[in-house]
Amino acid sequence: MTDPIQTESAEARAEKLQGLGCERKRVEDARFTRGKGHYVDDIKMPGMLFGDFVRSPYGHARIKSIDAEAAKTLPGVAAVLTAEDLKPLNLHYMPTLAGDVQAVLADGKVLFQGQEVAFVVAEDRYVAADAVELVEVEYEPLPALVDPLAALGDDAPILREDIADKNEGAHGARRHPNHIFTWEAGDAEAAGRAIDEAEVVAKETISYQRVHPCPLETCGCVASMDKVNGKLTVWGTFQAPHAVRTVASLISGIPEHNIRIVSPDIGGGFGNKVGVYPGYVCSIVASIVTGVPIKWIEDRIENLIATAFARDYHMAGEIAATRDGRITGLKCRVTADHGAFDACADPTKFPAGFFNICTGSYDIPAAHVAVDGVYTNKAPGGVAYRCSFRVTEASYFIERMIDVLARRLDMDPAELRLKNLIAKEQFPYTSALGWEYDSGDYHAAMEKALATVDYEALRAEQRAGREAFARGETRTLMGIGVAFFTEIVGAGPVKNCDILGLGMFDSCEIRIHPTGSAIARLGTISQGQGHATTFAQILATEIGIPADQIAVEEGDTDTAPYGLGTYGSRSTPVAGAATAMAGRKIRAKAQMIAAWLLEVHEDDLEWEVDRFQVKGNPERFKTMTELAFAAYNQAVPGIEPGLEAVSYYDPPNMTYPFGAYVCIVDIDVDTGVTSVRRFYALDDCGTRINPMIIEGQVHGGLTEALAIAMGQEIAYDEVGNVTGGNLIDYFLPTAVETPAWETDFTVTPSPHHPIGAKGVGESPNVGGVSAFSNAVNDAFAHLGLTHTQMPHDHWRVWKTAERLGLTG
Ligand code: CDP
Repeated sequence: MTDPIQTESAEARAEKLQGLGCERKRVEDARFTRGKGHYVDDIKMPGMLFGDFVRSPYGHARIKSIDAEAAKTLPGVAAVLTAEDLKPLNLHYMPTLAGDVQAVLADGKVLFQGQEVAFVVAEDRYVAADAVELVEVEYEPLPALVDPLAALGDDAPILREDIADKNEGAHGARRHPNHIFTWEAGDAEAAGRAIDEAEVVAKETISYQRVHPCPLETCGCVASMDKVNGKLTVWGTFQAPHAVRTVASLISGIPEHNIRIVSPDIGGGFGNKVGVYPGYVCSIVASIVTGVPIKWIEDRIENLIATAFARDYHMAGEIAATRDGRITGLKCRVTADHGAFDACADPTKFPAGFFNICTGSYDIPAAHVAVDGVYTNKAPGGVAYRCSFRVTEASYFIERMIDVLARRLDMDPAELRLKNLIAKEQFPYTSALGWEYDSGDYHAAMEKALATVDYEALRAEQRAGREAFARGETRTLMGIGVAFFTEIVGAGPVKNCDILGLGMFDSCEIRIHPTGSAIARLGTISQGQGHATTFAQILATEIGIPADQIAVEEGDTDTAPYGLGTYGSRSTPVAGAATAMAGRKIRAKAQMIAAWLLEVHEDDLEWEVDRFQVKGNPERFKTMTELAFAAYNQAVPGIEPGLEAVSYYDPPNMTYPFGAYVCIVDIDVDTGVTSVRRFYALDDCGTRINPMIIEGQVHGGLTEALAIAMGQEIAYDEVGNVTGGNLIDYFLPTAVETPAWETDFTVTPSPHHPIGAKGVGESPNVGGVSAFSNAVNDAFAHLGLTHTQMPHDHWRVWKTAERLGLTG
């Protein structure tokens, strides 16, 4: 019988592979929708105990005493750890990703509300929680520092007594006990000159409020030290399991081969699960001390108030232009509130992340940026909440500055953007702040967006609406927000980017089995992005094996090749490239086997979809399935048996996805209720692996952008109490608040990525926040308002309307 696959057309065979560009259904969902996901809290082990924290009720206080006796005598309590117990192990402080140290358990002082003070270990969560209540801590409250702009003042309270006299930090000189670093990029003189000589200068201070990522699953781990074989296994919500293994080895002294880190299914990361938290360290110590596994799982409030924050950037900008709207210079001075410890998750050389992408998508000849990192009495962190490192801050800054400049010039914001976007011919484009943008066709994207939403008609409608408002015929104002963003994703390259000295490459290892199915293991870890679906698609196209026959596995350091993990949309640009390259190695070996089997020279073979065929004689071929079997079955002279490959990919550059977004809001000035009437998002992420997954990523990212722009804020009162640290106060949109999203795309492949793909997961947050904020600000622009701070919740929007004398 003839094998049907051998007689089908190339197109039919290609379609069956479900490779690049296919809207393949998510293979993960068969498990997730049937309750078969396996998350950290699903792990149950014999004898397992549970850990819980005593946390500080104060933002800043001295600890006078800790009395754990009552807690220790509660039946079911196994241990109570304090800093004093960790000191002999030198584990009361741990290194942070930013070169600082962070208290694992408070040592003499608490520095933010919710800080970990003691770790209680008990037979179940409930006993642990009861015991937490019994630990008596005597505090002496100290003045709290919550305003980052006051942190470097002469009268500011000194927060970090442990490093108060250090004049040097991990990123250079410190000029005040609360100063962490000053980081600069660009040419201060040239930017200053451009501003001094400009025909028009617009100035604005733009704050991006403190928010916390809010994944459905909070952070947690199960640590299990097997004292017999000396092996430590930690299952946890880790976005970078290999890095956790290396850090755990360095801190604990346990040889790295005796540590196994496993990230099982993860219910959303968004940067929240990149850092190392005291809960992990305490669980490991407790497991070593007690000899049994220890589980620690945060509750929602702990997650919102104590684990990694994002943003809290306060950006003073000046933008210079000619009278006809050509931008000539940009300056930005940032005060970055890093909280009590500098635990920002950035590549080592970038203490302000990639904030120097803040010239955005525009051809700005001179620019300078300086960032001051400061300590305050707030939670540490500084993670890339669904964005690449500090890119959403940068994009928000420039997109608001462009709108502010447009008002100053009395020019349409879309027209100002079109006038200054980097032209297609300028790529690869080196920005004034030092980045080399790989590829783009910004004008095509912007023009497509404006045409699709019929921008002219929208502006005409807005003008008519404003006139009707002035005549008292309506109480609604319409706002049109335009945003054009450029992301920078895919850290490496290794020469520029490392985390704690670990170069930011990534990896893929492939094993083809004799029967022609395969397993691919990667150094990344999906948290809902659908890697098992899409990475198999890359391979299906590269090696001609149907995606359904390729298992993708991530997250177990005992089996996966070393990689730096998933955050900042780096999976596709880096691990996706490694996957394609490993696939090409497989194909190269398969070609040698095919040449031997077909008795031709390798150069006489050509690849077609799923097979090597003889050039000019396509009926003589060997399929990948046949070649897989041959690899295990034939003694091919000079070639080792088996069909496996591994690629460690060091990207030559990052990828620069971009997009044009338009948001239309209607604001009821009497209530501040802001309705999103329409949101159009055009994304260009280069070659599209799976359009359906991309659409899902964009929907998710836009929903988080809506959340941030329109409501999320972790605020602090003057004594350091967190306001907004629960889901009654913290805006987590449901289907009720979420509008319908319109998605669109252009395709500009990355020239240096093996399949031309750029990342996409973070783009909608980067572009979305600006589009929402621009829309709200635009609604009031005709009344002389240039900028209001986020979040634009109904109350604040109403206050703006009131300030402008619009309310009834
Ligand atoms: O690093 P992370 O997975 O968060 O972000 P990403 O690399 O942007 O990928 C998110 C999801 O979108 C993955 O499943 C990718 O394979 C998919 N994707 C795609 O289908 N095509 C692209 N050009 C980029 C991402």
